[in-house]
Amino acid sequence: MADRYLSFTGTAPGRFLTRRLGLPQPAPLRRFSEPDASPAGPLLHLTAGTSGLDLAPVLARTGLHAGSEAPAAVVLDATGVRDVGTLGEVHAALHPVVRSVAASGRVVVLGAPLDPADHHQAAAQQALEGFTRSLGKEIGRGRTVNLVRLTDAAAAESTLRFLLSPKSAYVSGQVIGVDGTTVTAPGDWERPLAGRTALVTGAARGIGEAVAQTLARDGARVVVLDVPAAEADARRVAERLGGTALILDITAADAGDRIAAALPDGLDVLVHNAGITRDRRLVNMPAERWASVLEVNLASVLRTTDALLAHGTLRPGGRIVATASIAGLAGNAGQTNYGASKAGVVGLVRSLAPRALSGHGVTVNAVAPGFIETRMTASIPLFIREAGRRMNSLAQGGLPVDVAETTAWLAHPASGAVNGQVVRVCGQSLLGA
Ligand code: NAI
Repeated sequence: MADRYLSFTGTAPGRFLTRRLGLPQPAPLRRFSEPDASPAGPLLHLTAGTSGLDLAPVLARTGLHAGSEAPAAVVLDATGVRDVGTLGEVHAALHPVVRSVAASGRVVVLGAPLDPADHHQAAAQQALEGFTRSLGKEIGRGRTVNLVRLTDAAAAESTLRFLLSPKSAYVSGQVIGVDGTTVTAPGDWERPLAGRTALVTGAARGIGEAVAQTLARDGARVVVLDVPAAEADARRVAERLGGTALILDITAADAGDRIAAALPDGLDVLVHNAGITRDRRLVNMPAERWASVLEVNLASVLRTTDALLAHGTLRPGGRIVATASIAGLAGNAGQTNYGASKAGVVGLVRSLAPRALSGHGVTVNAVAPGFIETRMTASIPLFIREAGRRMNSLAQGGLPVDVAETTAWLAHPASGAVNGQVVRVCGQSLLGA
């Protein structure tokens, strides 16, 4: 379902009218998949407090360079902010430049982990979250603001490349932890998944199809899993991407065993994307609606993860990316079943992540999409759909490719220090923000 309002506000009369009426002003977002995805201007590297990060070599490799035009990206290294006094340097650094950041530009604030033994440092570092989220809500023009907590610049290279590029067009107001110092740099940053196998559940259409396509672009051999009813679409997607289709219902008791049998050489990237909604308020919700959503969105994710780990199918250094939802974080009327299932996914990720990493270098993360333009959201009644689209800092819905690019960053071999994170792809939705 096309966003006609966004098209209208892209015209001169539309811009004039909506501004006069005080209506939302969504800006068209620059995405990596579009023909001209080259950086729209230079990178500005600022510092608040005294930093020990060796950031310059990493920033030099992003392809963004210093220059005198309006910056396309600003990186503020605030890892050295240890008290309210040095917090003032955040204001001093960004206040003079924020107006000049280019449309669809990026602001990335770097923070340090909170020090449990120093409540002044913890207060000042936590303050960066409120700062980042507030700036995200006011900056406008398709610009995004995110905070990365890190201790080592090289371990955060894949994260910085993602957040500074058009790939993160719909990711704003996020706080991402990069915990670790060791990292596997890919041989080729253009095709980081070359030689790797990725399985995406529910990949016959919608977000899953975009994920499969993006992972294939990054070099992965993709396995497109979907139900028998979607077999024709699944085969079409697999053929287009040079991958294979695996037709099975993920809720089948032996789904994990069948996936393991189909992948005797192992798997590097497992994307739990298949999901359904069966909305009703709890008072009107029959047990079957509750059970089917919990079964597809949560129980099967737990079962297949367990089976693939038990079979040893997931290779060392593997990546698990599960799909949550902002409804699982904020709650949503009519979605007690769905909200429960997606919150359950977050619990799975947070519990498994530390164990998986220490055992085999496997990372486990979640993407939590907001309003994404798919068949699922096209079926929402008009007024609720329109509210969902506009109630975020970018005043528009995201596209499947936005979730796909986020998944590809988490699946990246150099993202080994990103673990146990729940990253919202929601344009900084007002829901639970
Ligand atoms: P969709 O309905 O367009 O596609 C889902 C795919 O999963 C379909 O191809 C379907 O056949 C497959 N599937 C369903 N049950 C399955 C099963 N038992 N076994 C194997 N495959 C199965 O959905 P969409 O919008 O692409 O969503 C993908 C994921 O993103 C879901 O987990 C959804 O909950 C989540 N999500 C979507 C949002 C949105 O705005 N579209 C927002 C938040 C989360």
